[in-house]
Amino acid sequence: MKAAILVSGSGTNLQSFIDQVADKRLDLEIALVFSNRVDAYGLTRAKDAGIPTVCIEHGDYGERELFDRAVAATLDEFEPELIILAGFMRILSPWFVKHYGGRILNIHPALLPLYPGLDTHARVLAAGDTHHGSTVHFVTEELDGGPGILAGRIAVKPDESAAELQARVLAVEHQIYPQAAQMFADGRVSLKDGKAYMDGGLLSNPMVSDFS
Ligand code: GRF
Repeated sequence: MKAAILVSGSGTNLQSFIDQVADKRLDLEIALVFSNRVDAYGLTRAKDAGIPTVCIEHGDYGERELFDRAVAATLDEFEPELIILAGFMRILSPWFVKHYGGRILNIHPALLPLYPGLDTHARVLAAGDTHHGSTVHFVTEELDGGPGILAGRIAVKPDESAAELQARVLAVEHQIYPQAAQMFADGRVSLKDGKAYMDGGLLSNPMVSDFS
């Protein structure tokens, strides 16, 4: 299956996809890496791996949908069957979400539906939660609100900082994101009428891997 990976920053998740494809743990073709930021280190990672890259800076576009249409026109030249958001810091327009209906994945650093939005690690610590993690989910028009596919869970350590927690969550992401993408590529998970299905059965909550 051909995938486009969209990044805005460092791209450690992208690197995990690149590495797993390279050593054949993940059966996916990364057709293109796209960024809305010319300085995204993810673009360098892609170039180093010989993957085509495209950058369109969103500042050049007034309206969100105009930018999204330009992005989609570029992506579609590569005929991706799966769009993987890996630290892509843009809210997508309803038009974009419909254009790739049911074929966009995102990873959010929290155990969704807990903690949509930013600063999840600090919020988890402030709340005194015992567990935290990250969730791969389908993208719908609701920000961080699409149905979850696979979550990775860890126990919060006493006295750890938000940065330490973030690093441990990121390491979990590097395992669960390619795993969930493989399930999609194998036709095992899908999105229908806003709901996720796994092997034909409704997935009312994401599957959970415990990394504690
Ligand atoms: C991760 O925290 C992910 O959960 C969020 O963006 C970050 C991307 O990190 N969606 P990286 O660029 O893959 O290192």
